[in-house]
Amino acid sequence: MIDDLDRIEQQGRERIASAATLDELRGVEAAILGKRSELATLKKCLADLLPDERRQAGQALNAVRSRLAAALADRRHELEDRERAERFSAERLDLTELTERRRRGHLHLVTQTRDRLEDLFIGMGFTVAEGPEVETDWYNFEALNIPPAHPARGMWDTLYVEHGAEQSTLLRTHTSPVQIRVLQAQQPPIYSVMPGRVYRRDTPDASHLPVFHQIEGLVVDRGISMAHLAGTLEAFTSAYFGGSIHSRLRPSYFPFTEPSAEYDINCIICEGSGCRTCGQTGWLELGGCGMVHPNVFAAVGLDPEEWTGFAFGFGIDRLALMRHGIDDLRELFTNDVRFLEQF
Ligand code: PHE
Repeated sequence: MIDDLDRIEQQGRERIASAATLDELRGVEAAILGKRSELATLKKCLADLLPDERRQAGQALNAVRSRLAAALADRRHELEDRERAERFSAERLDLTELTERRRRGHLHLVTQTRDRLEDLFIGMGFTVAEGPEVETDWYNFEALNIPPAHPARGMWDTLYVEHGAEQSTLLRTHTSPVQIRVLQAQQPPIYSVMPGRVYRRDTPDASHLPVFHQIEGLVVDRGISMAHLAGTLEAFTSAYFGGSIHSRLRPSYFPFTEPSAEYDINCIICEGSGCRTCGQTGWLELGGCGMVHPNVFAAVGLDPEEWTGFAFGFGIDRLALMRHGIDDLRELFTNDVRFLEQF
């Protein structure tokens, strides 16, 4: 029996040493220590020995068993270390190499999208304006026909800044306050777009981020109608998405426009026939729009009898997603170079 044990230990050690992966090692472990191993069979034979011999052989068997178990554990650590090192080198991002090869980076997809949108609207005769990200309640809400405690405030989950009177200062929840700043700073006619970062108290998921980007549009002139709004958005849609994608307006509500509409485009995945991305409707929602409310003109001292206008606001990040068929907004800000390099 002692001879058997020596042989079993010797063969066991050889098999352990030659296991090249963790998977193989698991197989070896079952074969040499498992229920159907030679050791297990020998153990059953102990019962047939005389008490003295049984004790001696039993001790020898247990010793072999624990030496093999220790050898297995050592080998497992070795293989784990090796597999981890291999994974690290496979997933490694060598950023120094990028500069050695003189490869240049490029603008982030959201910045590219914003630039493209600005270019498109400039081509259509618009100017570009910007406003602050920290706003007062008056610009973000009141001047936009949303008085304190108005139920429509619930449409925007607001992040407040500790400054001045309580809830008087906030991170802008949309780019619409820039409409007010533009109206204060210049006389109509106005044809402006206003891109920028906005903030909402939202938990990040595939379609929401607490920090995202919008582009606002504002047109104020004499005799502007809903037809101008629809025509402008349709022209924008084919310029941005190409001629096969069209837009529609769907009745909606915003306090600062009347009438208000949701701006939808044909689903860019199925082009209107219905798929998962558009929930089988064939349409994707891009943003809000409408005719500037007379109270907004009143807030900046313009005569609503003389001036008419339209406004719109879209999510820039969403526009980037749709144009490139990305399905999770969070990808844009995880900033994995391997993802960003594609655009
Ligand atoms: N500011 C609105 C929002 O963020 C969108 C909008 C802009 C609607 C302009 C109408 C006119 O939800």
